[in-house]
Amino acid sequence: MRLERITPKNYETALALSVRPDQEDLVAPVVKSLAEAYVFPDQAWPRLIYDGDRVVGFVMAFLGIPWDPGRDPADLRSGLWRLNIAADAQGSGYGRFAVGAVCAEIRARGGVRAYVTWEPRVGGPEQFYLKLGFRPTGERSGGQTVGVLDL
Ligand SMILES: CC(C)(COP(=O)(O)OP(=O)(O)OC[C@H]1O[C@@H](n2cnc3c(N)ncnc32)[C@H](O)[C@@H]1OP(=O)(O)O)[C@@H](O)C(=O)NCCC(=O)NCCS
Repeated sequence: MRLERITPKNYETALALSVRPDQEDLVAPVVKSLAEAYVFPDQAWPRLIYDGDRVVGFVMAFLGIPWDPGRDPADLRSGLWRLNIAADAQGSGYGRFAVGAVCAEIRARGGVRAYVTWEPRVGGPEQFYLKLGFRPTGERSGGQTVGVLDL
């Protein structure tokens, strides 16, 4: 398993990635994430997840973004912005690998915590994040649960 940058050679494969139809409300499509990465080039860290030559998912970290600029502009956070494992590749450890890779990147930049938000519904990724050690902070963001992992 490895992460690769999005390039002219692989971006169409990235755009074609999809989660299961019943999961589409849980994560934005890759095309939206790539648009955001274009607009926030210094804070977005988008990568494709490969297993050998096969693309199995997409992950995008956010690095040092003001969490709630209106309340505390100094509260800069890093974490997982998006995680889309392809429908036919779920349950094989790729999500765990991608979270570990994002945490390593945050650590390498001096960060000590990784944040994530998830939709608190049955069938959502809550148990996945809890299993990886994330804990709810007690905050909500756009109706989603905010989780944090000490690195
Ligand atoms: C949630 C998601 C990222 C997990 O990725 P994955 O590659 O399927 O998960 P992994 O195989 O790495 O699983 C790691 C562990 O979490 C568990 N797990 C994964 N998804 C789970 C779920 N929905 N509920 C309960 N446990 C789950 C696995 O069983 C595994 O546990 P184990 O090590 O004891 O066997 C993936 O299913 C996905 O893309 N879902 C749709 C989009 C989404 O919800 N993205 C997150 C947005 S915040």
